[in-house]
Amino acid sequence: LSSSYKIGDVNGLGRTFDGIGGLSGGGATSRLLMNYAEPYRSQILDYLFKPNFGAALQILKVEIGGDGQSTEGTEATHMRSESDENYSRGYEWWLMKEAKSRNPNITLVGLPWAFPGWIGQGTVWPYQNRDITAKYVTNWVLGAKAHHNLVIDYVGIWNERPFDVEYIKILRNTLNSAGLNHVQIIADDGDVYSSISSDIMHDQKLDEAVGVIGTHYPGTISSKTTKETGKPIWASEDYSTYSDVIGAGCWARILNQNLVNGNMTATIAWNLITSYYDDLPYNRCSIMTANSPWSGNYILNDPLWVTSHTTQFTQPGWKYLQTVGHLTGGGSYVALTDQKGNLTIVIETMSHDQSVCIRPPLPEYSVQDQNATFILEGSFKGKVSKLNMWFTQLGQSSKRDVFVHKGQVAVDKNGQALIHLPIDCVITLSTITSAIKGSYPTPPASTVFPIPYSDNFNNPTGFSEPFNFADQAGSYEFYHNASSKDGHESTFRQVVKQRPVTWCSDPDQTITVIGNYQWKTISVSVSIKSESTYGAFVAIRVDKGGCDAREANGLYFWLMKNGSIMLTSDLTATSVLKQCYFYWKCFYNELDWNNVTLSVNQHNQVSAYLNGKLALEYTIPDKSDVPNNGFVALGTANYGTAQFDDFSIKEN
Ligand SMILES: *[C@@H]1O[C@H](CO)[C@@H](O)[C@H](O)[C@H]1NC(C)=O
Ligand SMILES: *[C@@H]1O[C@H](CO)[C@@H](O)[C@H](O)[C@H]1NC(C)=O
Ligand SMILES: *[C@@H]1O[C@H](CO)[C@@H](O)[C@H](O)[C@H]1NC(C)=O
Ligand SMILES: *[C@@H]1O[C@H](CO)[C@@H](O)[C@H](O)[C@H]1NC(C)=O
Ligand SMILES: *[C@@H]1O[C@H](CO)[C@@H](O)[C@H](O)[C@H]1NC(C)=O
Ligand SMILES: *[C@@H]1O[C@H](CO)[C@@H](O)[C@H](O)[C@H]1NC(C)=O
Ligand SMILES: *[C@@H]1O[C@H](CO)[C@@H](O)[C@H](O)[C@H]1NC(C)=O
Ligand SMILES: *[C@@H]1O[C@H](CO)[C@@H](O)[C@H](O)[C@H]1NC(C)=O
Repeated sequence: LSSSYKIGDVNGLGRTFDGIGGLSGGGATSRLLMNYAEPYRSQILDYLFKPNFGAALQILKVEIGGDGQSTEGTEATHMRSESDENYSRGYEWWLMKEAKSRNPNITLVGLPWAFPGWIGQGTVWPYQNRDITAKYVTNWVLGAKAHHNLVIDYVGIWNERPFDVEYIKILRNTLNSAGLNHVQIIADDGDVYSSISSDIMHDQKLDEAVGVIGTHYPGTISSKTTKETGKPIWASEDYSTYSDVIGAGCWARILNQNLVNGNMTATIAWNLITSYYDDLPYNRCSIMTANSPWSGNYILNDPLWVTSHTTQFTQPGWKYLQTVGHLTGGGSYVALTDQKGNLTIVIETMSHDQSVCIRPPLPEYSVQDQNATFILEGSFKGKVSKLNMWFTQLGQSSKRDVFVHKGQVAVDKNGQALIHLPIDCVITLSTITSAIKGSYPTPPASTVFPIPYSDNFNNPTGFSEPFNFADQAGSYEFYHNASSKDGHESTFRQVVKQRPVTWCSDPDQTITVIGNYQWKTISVSVSIKSESTYGAFVAIRVDKGGCDAREANGLYFWLMKNGSIMLTSDLTATSVLKQCYFYWKCFYNELDWNNVTLSVNQHNQVSAYLNGKLALEYTIPDKSDVPNNGFVALGTANYGTAQFDDFSIKEN
């Protein structure tokens, strides 16, 4: 099969290209990245953000933390109460600065998932008082500039949840009143059918308020009405597919076809980087993997180099040509120009089975080996005599080329360039000469999280959180008590006092998990006496996180303020396995700080020691809700403060 395709601007240009991006958050997806040692941490960031090196991402979208669960964990809010403002929590500020330091042109986007509880004004609805919510989001944008010199370019509404037309208008006005007219609003980050589009068509004020229509997992299609709004259309969250060769195929196909089929001018991958534990949901649905900081290992997944095929040959602001489309033998091509003579053509020939994304379902189609002649017309005719060719072969082929420079393709005097297109490949043809397949020495091999492991929370990490804990409900931070005289000046404290305006159905308890799924013995000091929680727990074998955290089974050892101690097999403390060891008479002598050791041996015998004394024993029966493995965890009985210290994991 041999077909020809015209590439030119004879009938004018198409839409403006807005970029390819990655999403950190939604949630806590970058949690383990911060404790990579140098040089690995900088290398990882270079592969993601440095121009002409790796993925060279053009957009970084981050979560505006709301202290609530948003898929892989919770992210800290900048306002825990109406009077609290703090722009040094969490790691997204740091990540944005690292991205900007590598590419000052990178576009920054912020979007809330959960909101802190007070935003709900007694409800779990963020639009209860729209002025307050708009101020909350505007403060985040102002804080980014004031505290980190970060200019935010776009903000969203409420991820994958109902939008409120009145709120969008109020947010627009609030941003404008704060001098943030340049910050555009993306809406509504959900609904594939973009019902907001018909609202925009009928409401001029809404039309003025919304800058970009953002859809999620659009399957490369935009609705007719969405196109009719004339607004930029983004796949503002897409991909979410396991990052093997099929994930790379998915990413290659949608990066082209979101434009060809859906007129979308930006695509953002959820998520940027797997820096969360593999035992949390959606593991490795990322552009890159870096979730074993203790080893220094990271993985350059194929989707990273698929990204380079577009990003290293374009800039946001370039124009798509109108001459884009499907290839006769299957696959697609797009073309872009800087309007100064540069031309980039990106071609993909992904077969169906090698490019299925996690969602939506992909209708059957076929792709065949084919030849293509690209005929340059208009302002490119006679101006371009050769095109640099970069090539990636994915799929089942034994030939595994990934982002390889294949020299130059000649453009003949008739403006024609002939190329062979095998199945499952990505090819870039471009006048741009600056592309590089960047590389660092191979990082160390991945290892399991080593034990013994301990943290006395005395060593600053440069962040509000210690390393390695992954909060699944509530927020856990370093806490400093200058007046402490008992060796607990620096501790680990749960600080959220009210259940958030949730995005998932967060539990009524708070919980933070850590480590290897096989860990069996945990020791930690617990302080609840002068804290506001009803009680705290220490747990092992916790088998769920993310939006399923509420349903997590495990072995939970509780110290309650009312004096009760108990062992349960669930986080909600409804399945009590054992309560009150005899000599404690249902009560323990509550100290300011209590040493707890919880362990399970190979005979499934559980023992809990409290301040050096055996407090409770239990043998797990053959038939039981208690999982065989799971995370080690700490938590509180409700939204209230509690402190932990001298955390240690011993040899099994
Ligand atoms: C900001 O919050 C962090 C963590 O909650 C805390 O350590 C820090 O002291 C706070 N900064 C200010 C200025 O309040
Ligand atoms: C930033 O954008 C400007 C204007 O488009 C461009 O000249 C410059 O090369 C870009 N810088 C980087 C690092 O991409
Ligand atoms: C959408 O893209 C197609 C080609 O891919 C083009 O023909 C059409 O004019 C575009 N529609 C809008 C509204 O941009
Ligand atoms: C293409 O872009 C480069 C910068 O990457 C620039 O130097 C050159 O002038 C542009 N135009 C052409 C026709 O190459
Ligand atoms: C592509 O062109 C080459 C060279 O002309 C030819 O050998 C080959 O058979 C063609 N392949 C297809 C699929 O048409
Ligand atoms: C701080 O330390 C003092 C002295 O040990 C103690 O009384 C107080 O309860 C501690 N405060 C907190 C919040 O831990
Ligand atoms: C203490 O609280 C726990 C959990 O709410 C409850 O199960 C237990 O019965 C209470 N114990 C006493 C002595 O009130
Ligand atoms: C807890 O254990 C530490 C050592 O691990 C010890 O120094 C301390 O005295 C113990 N505290 C209590 C209350 O038993």
